[in-house]
Amino acid sequence: MLSSQHIRAQFLKFFEDKGHHVVSSSSLVPHEDPTLLFTNAGMNQFKDVFLGEEQRNYVRAASSQKCVRAGGKHNDLENVGYTARHHTFFEMLGNFSFGDYFKKEAIHFAWELLTEVFAIPKEKLLVTVYADDNEAYSIWEKDIGIPTEKIIKIGDNKGSQYASDNFWMMGDTGPCGPCSEIFYDHGDTIEGGVPGSHNEDGDRFIEIWNLVFMQFNRDDKGVMHPLPKPSVDTGMGLERITAILQDVHSNYDIDIFRELIAEAAKLTKTNNTEHPSLKVLSDHIRATTFLIGDGVLPANEGRGYVLRRIIRRAIRHGYKLGVRAPFFFKLVAPLNLVMGDTYRFSKEQSSLIESEIHLEEKRFFETIENGMGILEDTIKELVGKNKTAISGKVAFKLHDTFGFPLDLTADVCRENGISINSEEFDAEMDKQKTMAREAGNFKAKLQINYSGPDTVFLGYDKSSTSAILLGILTHEQSVASITNGESAMLILDQTPFYAESGGQIGDIGSISSEEGVFDVTDTFKIKGNIYVHVGSMIKGKLSINDKIEADINHEHRQHVMRNHSATHLMHKALKEILGNHIEQKGSLVDSYRTRFDFSHPKPLTYKEKTSIELMVNQEILKNQTTQASVMDIDSAKKTGAMMLFGEKYGDKVRVLEIGNSKELCGGTHVAKTGDIGLFKIQSESGISSGIRRVEATTGLNVIGLIAAQETIIDNVTKELNVGASEVTSKVSQLMKQLKDNEKIISQLKSKIAGSEGSDLVGQAIDTGKYQFLGVSVDRVEANELREMIDNLKEKFQSAVIILGSHSNNKVSFAVGVTDNLTQEIKAGDIAKLLGEAVGGKGGGRDNMAMAGGPNIQLIDEAISQIKDHLIK
Ligand code: ALA
Repeated sequence: MLSSQHIRAQFLKFFEDKGHHVVSSSSLVPHEDPTLLFTNAGMNQFKDVFLGEEQRNYVRAASSQKCVRAGGKHNDLENVGYTARHHTFFEMLGNFSFGDYFKKEAIHFAWELLTEVFAIPKEKLLVTVYADDNEAYSIWEKDIGIPTEKIIKIGDNKGSQYASDNFWMMGDTGPCGPCSEIFYDHGDTIEGGVPGSHNEDGDRFIEIWNLVFMQFNRDDKGVMHPLPKPSVDTGMGLERITAILQDVHSNYDIDIFRELIAEAAKLTKTNNTEHPSLKVLSDHIRATTFLIGDGVLPANEGRGYVLRRIIRRAIRHGYKLGVRAPFFFKLVAPLNLVMGDTYRFSKEQSSLIESEIHLEEKRFFETIENGMGILEDTIKELVGKNKTAISGKVAFKLHDTFGFPLDLTADVCRENGISINSEEFDAEMDKQKTMAREAGNFKAKLQINYSGPDTVFLGYDKSSTSAILLGILTHEQSVASITNGESAMLILDQTPFYAESGGQIGDIGSISSEEGVFDVTDTFKIKGNIYVHVGSMIKGKLSINDKIEADINHEHRQHVMRNHSATHLMHKALKEILGNHIEQKGSLVDSYRTRFDFSHPKPLTYKEKTSIELMVNQEILKNQTTQASVMDIDSAKKTGAMMLFGEKYGDKVRVLEIGNSKELCGGTHVAKTGDIGLFKIQSESGISSGIRRVEATTGLNVIGLIAAQETIIDNVTKELNVGASEVTSKVSQLMKQLKDNEKIISQLKSKIAGSEGSDLVGQAIDTGKYQFLGVSVDRVEANELREMIDNLKEKFQSAVIILGSHSNNKVSFAVGVTDNLTQEIKAGDIAKLLGEAVGGKGGGRDNMAMAGGPNIQLIDEAISQIKDHLIK
């Protein structure tokens, strides 16, 4: 049996033998393409090549491309687990022609690979073509010999021009064209009709290969512009072709998935290996691992939120199988084994990926049980009342309080035949966004109905403490108790939670008693020193005067402290390296990074950036103990500690000495500089005139950053086929070669222009007095036309010559008149008329003149007008 590895290799080898350059997969995060959430097709990395905006030193390419279709325009997330063929992550095999071969070769290549190399019986295959594409139809019919009943024409079946299953577009804009798809018949034991029929969505006839004949670039107004050259883009799902060659019906029965499903079954102690949840796990671990590998981390928005949704959906399916503690991260190692031939992650990358998944699992396992409890109760109630839709408010509470993404809730509901009132959900979401927008004001304006004592802060040395619950506020009302699912703000007599200030964000964690658990998502201060813990009850009940345990999320705090301490070292290094004019203008420290704004007139040079990194890391290696002492402001001034200009300090201040820096600061810091681990600048930019912003990160986050960069270097070295140390010299060499080639090309072009000129001599008309030559030639630039005129003039005694051409959507004319005729006929006058005729301008000397204009379609008419005028 052919393995999936073997099939991938065979595909690439087949096209390599046919003159294709094998290109490695690009990252799942598309570079510089804001129209795309994730890479979703093999052609993405060649978009600019198709558009003619980028040149490569090859015109044929083949690749096996990592793709994710979740969250964006193409979204298969909700189908995974329910069908035989949907995936969030898959590999797309493809061959590409950039203005080289077109329909005929593309079709022949595909047929040869499928029927000869892969030996698929011809009678199992059928094809579709775009209804107007007679050329493709005839290639399939005449050259390949497919019976006409197996060539199905599909027109604009989606409601407007070009909206068709057989017209492929990357997105709303960009390269596109008609396509021809190859289908495999899995046999009449399986339900489903041929493409284009009413039951085409069945599983019997499966599309395996899409051949796109790229011809247009669609602009944002929907106008189709012809591409510089017709091209080819094809895509075949590796998992689908493997299913056929391994003689199984479902993609989840191919080698890769069988092994992952077996591992998932072991981990979750599931005997039934056909359980749909195992399919979900085997699919989601691929998307999760590859996305983190390409630098995406779980977050609350954008790409990171799609990743979070995938991970949480996987955890929910594990939960359904009875798992109650982090397990999903353990599938990274088996995946590395199964797909490691092509995409092996290094040890460091694997352990980073595992620890990110583990962290996300720990977070979600804290709330899933209570959330599922509420959801199951609600569903039971609905089923009892014969209702089929769950309220959007419940779905929103699950989202907001228990971290259930909407599609996760929908997934559970779907299993019970229930839908979600999504309008209600959206309305709740909008309400919350409005509240969040006002949150800045909200914290400042909050009239908290609390007149108890200040909170004692213990968080400099403790991460947990017991305390008394002194205040519970909901919607600014003071209440006596709160229960599961309610949001509130709690006030304690003492707390380890740091309240947002001095740029450092507030702590997160939990406040709990035997009776209940409150999840803290933020902490801030009011009236000087009253600490407010924001969050919601995820279990049971809490009441005023309860004795509780307050625990901060230690891991989160560690990240924040590393970033905060690094900020001080960086501030010091900036002053040392750039000068004493550096003044802090703002800062934000959270668990991901430190963001530091400061006054400086120009961008940092590479050398300045690396010197800052070096100085900070040297301080980290010295591993000195942090010292903090509280003193009055005058004594603090005497210590020489850095203070912020214009900042109001109280009578007592905290002087913090960390490494070589001494600064006033109330924040929480690492005990020794060595605890920071590593420091790396991520970006440097200007935010307004004279103000720069540096973003940097520390600890394990740096490893993630390096891993992402390593992947880029790795791809480049593979592409260039050299070791990392030779990349620079190889690129210089290639650039030089490119320049030399450009020179040669331009010389060749002139030569060709000259010889083309000789061919034209025969087309001249003898007027009796002189020769008249008026022709249009293909895609020649204006300066080359001029050269051709000079050449032609030498070949005639007495002549009027007009050459027209269009390139880059413009017409150019060159007009030459031999000197003996210039008394009567002036090249400048002719050029003027020609220019006007094509909507532009023209003019020049009596014996040589140029014209140009936008109306390409009028070239020949313009020339013939002049001809009629001269030869009466
Ligand atoms: N780009 C084409 C597709 O994704 C081949 O189907």
